[in-house]
Amino acid sequence: MSNIGTYEERLKSFDWSIAEKELDYKSGDKINIGWFLSDRNCQKGLAKKLALIHEDHEGKVRKYTFDDMRTITNAMAVFLQKLGIKPGERVCIFMDRAPELYFSFQGILKMGGVAQPLFSAFGDESLFTRLDNAKTAAIFTQKKHVAKVRKILNTLPELRHIIIVDADETTTLRDREIAYNMEKEPRVESFEVFPSTAETPSVLHYTSGTTGQPKGAQHVHYSLISQYLTAKWVLDLQPDDIYWCNADPGWVTGTSYGIIGPWANGITQVVLDAGFSAERWYKTIEKHKITVWYSAPTAIRLLMREGTEVVKKHDLSCLRHLCSVGEPLNPEAVIWSQEAFGKMFHDTFWQTETGCIVITNVPGMPIKPGSMGKPFPGITAAVLDLKTYEPITKAGTVGLIALKPGWPSMMRTYWNNPTVYQSKFKNGWYVCGDRASIDADGYYWFVGRDDDVINTGGHLVGPFEIESALLEHPAVAESAAVGKPDQVNMEVVKAFVALKPGFQPGDDLELEIMNFIRKKLSPLAMPQEIEFVKSLPKTRSGKIMRRVLRAQEWGEPIGDISTLEND
Ligand code: PRX
Repeated sequence: MSNIGTYEERLKSFDWSIAEKELDYKSGDKINIGWFLSDRNCQKGLAKKLALIHEDHEGKVRKYTFDDMRTITNAMAVFLQKLGIKPGERVCIFMDRAPELYFSFQGILKMGGVAQPLFSAFGDESLFTRLDNAKTAAIFTQKKHVAKVRKILNTLPELRHIIIVDADETTTLRDREIAYNMEKEPRVESFEVFPSTAETPSVLHYTSGTTGQPKGAQHVHYSLISQYLTAKWVLDLQPDDIYWCNADPGWVTGTSYGIIGPWANGITQVVLDAGFSAERWYKTIEKHKITVWYSAPTAIRLLMREGTEVVKKHDLSCLRHLCSVGEPLNPEAVIWSQEAFGKMFHDTFWQTETGCIVITNVPGMPIKPGSMGKPFPGITAAVLDLKTYEPITKAGTVGLIALKPGWPSMMRTYWNNPTVYQSKFKNGWYVCGDRASIDADGYYWFVGRDDDVINTGGHLVGPFEIESALLEHPAVAESAAVGKPDQVNMEVVKAFVALKPGFQPGDDLELEIMNFIRKKLSPLAMPQEIEFVKSLPKTRSGKIMRRVLRAQEWGEPIGDISTLEND
């Protein structure tokens, strides 16, 4: 029997207080996510249970119990206090998926800091934009990434401490750098956890929009309520499960469901700090006897490409429940997973801003391959008319996915950007920025983004960030970045570039510009193709019309171009 029971029954009697009661939380109480993930589990008799099974790229496995996690995160919290980090200050985590990532996240929360996880493949400019915006006070990182921090240090006066978690005797520490060895540092038995309450800021996750630089979605400790219950009901986590989430905590899936949700449920998690390989992934499932797996469409498509022969070489009968997030899950992938694993992937739709799964196929609900499922109980969702922002009642009509604000893990603002935050609300609805339709049975069918944001392999990349970086290249006069179709990643970045006088288009220049972006921003933001053009389509007011270029890439009708300047 699944945790949720039947969807219809839960809908009738749902209240978020179900989660509050299970977590022994009452309105007005203290609530600190860091404490809930380890201390509370230890108090509930799980001290000796494994919390983390960590495997690195070389196959070395390290295991930590809930009590290990409790005392290590206490030690990290004490360390931050001694450095002079104050509650409310932002502490960035910029590293690969080492155990230190998972534990520093909790140490920061325990001492009242705001955790700011960033993807370790970010280049110095992506890093700078986010540290500068958040006025980050300290950063946890590794030797292999510290050069990027050093490069931008002079322009970040507020960044007081760079904590290197794998420094050894051979590492020469420079300005503001300090070594912290989690394994050698004495563990701390008791720590007075910061008395955060429901609305105390907890996590700051940066996400890309169409205009402007990335924005920090500000979450609060009360988000735990949603993350705990959705992990329990949608991922169907049960006490003996071994759970694996493929996502990097640089993205929200890796924190909400790679740290908070599963550990709030006292579940053993596997983390694999290695790149993608079908063989390695199946071996990991088999070796650690993974039962619940949270993955993403791009990964599933990569696995599909490798075929079912490699699946058959492994005993994957341990798998009990499969979920997916981040991009449209194509029906073929759902059908293939049934063939390959004897289980269908359950799609889940949500965003950095929502903090938890909001539309989904819960266990037991018949899956319609290609549909995202229905709103999670406790989430009021609709599809709004594109012009009036009124809910659409006619089945099958495409509109904007919208949610009634008020669930616990809804972001509370965009960091230092209340204006853009406000612009996300229309008619009392939070508008996600995606289009979908709802069928006669209440199932949601994703259509596409309603803006210019590029979703590459489940990661959102903002065109503005890429275009700004392109302009820093000496040859680029103007540019536009759009998504172009891709078999595996759904979309990849394509840049249209007009060159300055004196520069000639060519393969060498294309490669040079690609690498320039890869280094500055990240491999995800790097254009896979650059098309050199004489000029870009613009509105009469001078705004570049990415829509026209995007439609061209997708072979779609261009739509209304009456405002085009150069028509
Ligand atoms: O466009 C939707 C797409 O990813 C966006 C949210 O991205 P992000 O904030 O980075 O969070 C990703 C992981 C929670 C959405 O606005 N998206 C997410 N899940 C799905 C999806 N598109 C289609 N189907 C999904 N299941």
